[in-house]
Amino acid sequence: MGHDKQGLEMTGTGAAIAAYDRAVDSLLRMQPEVVVHSVAALAEDADCVMARVLQAYLGLMSSEAAESRAGAARVAGAVGRTAREQAHLEVVAVWLGGDWHKAARLLDAILAEDPMDSLALSVGHQLDFLLGDAANLKGRPSRALAAWPTGHDHRGFILGMQAFGLGETGDYDRAQAAGHDALAAHGEDVWAIHALAHVHEMRGEPEAGLSLLDGQRANWDANNFLKVHTSWHAAIFALDLGDPDRALEVYDAAVFNAQSRGIAMEMLDGTSLLWRLHLDGVEAGPRWAVLAEAWAGKPTEPWYVFNDLHAIMALIAAGRQAEAEAVLARLEAFAQGPNLPRSNHLAVASAGLAVARGLIAYGRGDFEASVAALAPVRHQLAIFGGSHAQRDVWQRTLLVAAEKAGAKAFAHQLARERLDLRPTSAWARSKLALSR
Ligand SMILES: [Fe+2]
Repeated sequence: MGHDKQGLEMTGTGAAIAAYDRAVDSLLRMQPEVVVHSVAALAEDADCVMARVLQAYLGLMSSEAAESRAGAARVAGAVGRTAREQAHLEVVAVWLGGDWHKAARLLDAILAEDPMDSLALSVGHQLDFLLGDAANLKGRPSRALAAWPTGHDHRGFILGMQAFGLGETGDYDRAQAAGHDALAAHGEDVWAIHALAHVHEMRGEPEAGLSLLDGQRANWDANNFLKVHTSWHAAIFALDLGDPDRALEVYDAAVFNAQSRGIAMEMLDGTSLLWRLHLDGVEAGPRWAVLAEAWAGKPTEPWYVFNDLHAIMALIAAGRQAEAEAVLARLEAFAQGPNLPRSNHLAVASAGLAVARGLIAYGRGDFEASVAALAPVRHQLAIFGGSHAQRDVWQRTLLVAAEKAGAKAFAHQLARERLDLRPTSAWARSKLALSR
């Protein structure tokens, strides 16, 4: 028994705990070395439960079924010797069981006891992100911050989390202040850079967004878990500046290419970018076929509807409408199944199915049906996770479907709403002009 870098009691030899501390540091920096450090912790001491828990969380945070099960298997047979270790083991079990909302509440409870549990903060923040829980994306780091002494090495990373949460709740000025404070502590805090990019995205400031990412490139365009996603942000800024060629260059160089590992989190970014181009009538060439093939190779079990909706988009755009409709059929069957305390069930039944139907109708060219499916749930999309910027792909789909359906008045309303949020957005202006 010993204590981690924050002074929290945990099982393990001194060497194992030192390796665990390095793993948590890497996680906060979103660096892949988190894996080797966690392996090293267990090589030092196989009873280091928190290292096993960390490995389980890495699998669960993937948002994919097989990786989640493989991750959770890392804690099989593990026995927590402290209340905190036992609580983390319960989180892993509940998360794997499908009640992601309860898992998030259990992580809140751990932090109420130990607000300096960096692992609970980092993992809880990512779970809040998977759940689209803007209030807790802000609240979780905000509640913990007071416990963190100025000058503590991890405090800056908590500010980076807070910056992202502030942005998701629309508090953009405070988000920028927190993001810059985070970067003053750690220039390589990719999550803080990403939080600042979101502020520019939400305010419709693509030039400022690209300037930020170009200026910070040395700090994010490296080997970290957020490189692909940050590249996606750069590409959608380029799109908003009316430069689809640059967006496609970024896609090929950094979002999805032959070197991509085929993980859902990266395929989301690729799909989301190409679908925006698809809505604008820009051809993506053979890229859709490659992406659709990658989605088609994924297990069919409903696990996280946010991923399924992206699979549907890729299959439609690649001309594989029947397979897209098969995904919808699986979601329909899942929604009619037993109403277990499953977060994905809630997301599918409340808004996921409607969006899936709206996309399928769009793919068939039935734009009236697409609008009829998407419009009623357009303010409920957060239930299936991600950020406002990511979910915007379906708001854009609705607007374009309304245009194509000849629903000019509704398209005009949507364009007005968008311009109110992003007064300088060229895309919103073009949509407003079209809908007059
Ligand atoms: Fe993002």
